Amino acid sequence: MRIITLALLAVFAFASCNQKISKTVIKPEAFHKMVDGKQVELFTLKNKNGLEIAITNYGGRIVSLMVPDKSGKMEDIVLGYETIDGYLNANEQYFGGSIGRYGNRIANGKFSLDSIEYKLAINNKPNSLHGGVKGFSAKVWDAVLKGNNELELLLVSPDMEEGYPGELKVKVNYKLTDSNELTLTYRAETSKPTVLNLTNHSYFNLHGAGNGDILDHEVFLNADKYTPVDSTLIPTGKIETVIGTPFDFTTPATVGARINEKNEQLAFGLGYDHNFVLNKVDGKAVSLAASVYDPQSGRFMEVFTNEPGVQFYCGNFLKGKEIGKQNKPYNYRSALCFETQHFPDSPNHADFPTVVLRPGEIYNSVCIYKFSTK
Ligand code: GLA
Repeated sequence: MRIITLALLAVFAFASCNQKISKTVIKPEAFHKMVDGKQVELFTLKNKNGLEIAITNYGGRIVSLMVPDKSGKMEDIVLGYETIDGYLNANEQYFGGSIGRYGNRIANGKFSLDSIEYKLAINNKPNSLHGGVKGFSAKVWDAVLKGNNELELLLVSPDMEEGYPGELKVKVNYKLTDSNELTLTYRAETSKPTVLNLTNHSYFNLHGAGNGDILDHEVFLNADKYTPVDSTLIPTGKIETVIGTPFDFTTPATVGARINEKNEQLAFGLGYDHNFVLNKVDGKAVSLAASVYDPQSGRFMEVFTNEPGVQFYCGNFLKGKEIGKQNKPYNYRSALCFETQHFPDSPNHADFPTVVLRPGEIYNSVCIYKFSTK
């Protein structure tokens, strides 16, 4: 009897100590604020394995993502802030956000659709980046929490907002499954022909946010080709092979292995900041786009999508100026992003997969981040 009681005590002690480790530092109260006349809040999704994700309806930001390492120790693996004010005052504007209407750049902030020319804000000279001055990642969305593991965010973007035509009704669904998948599903409808390219801009560090750089992370990209860019990070229009270049991640390689090689494309991106053209499995809507492994913690993340591309970005613009969660600075190359998407500047490249959405059509984009250890 005594042995059983002792054993039970040990189990409880272990469980409660584990819980302490797994508890996120983020407090929902720190996100209660009226922004643009709308209530901002923080929502937490959990699964049966203890994974925990906090999302705010300000910009649809993934604020924290608690994931175990190979010994079960939880760590928050996305960059971000502990308070809504952190996000409102940040220099780096996109941590964890739902990006729209157009993920990545549109050259010179201009495009034509059905012979009408549209002009967008130039917020990343000389181009328009991530939806303009106040894109979807800076909007307060309506939120519907669906049980423990699902959140739906809704936004109506008025006709000509940020220069884009059509009233757009957008829905982003965040679901944390018991197989440790975070599934992001985007749906949208428009009242007029428009262009659309939605994505999530989470910055991952599998050591934990703020715990050093990601140069030792081993990346696989399921892409034989990529879209090289000019010096302003606009695709030249060519689709080139990665074979024989530092862009070949068809066999896993560490981020750091070739990032500092002398290469014009790496110089333009200050490292990796490029769109990869994903290899697709015939007949499969959602397929593997990328994976990343941290040999230290054993954390492994796979990325699946129905999109034709993924923007692989390595935090080359971070310089330690951002002081994030737990007062940790976010240094140069201390995170990586896998932004599943259509190609940058597609509205100006007729031969890229189309980003045009017309009335009556339903936009459907899926991105799955799946977590495990090895
Ligand atoms: C994307 C872009 C980068 C950079 C980041 C945000 O990944 O491709 O050039 O703008 O967003 O800083």
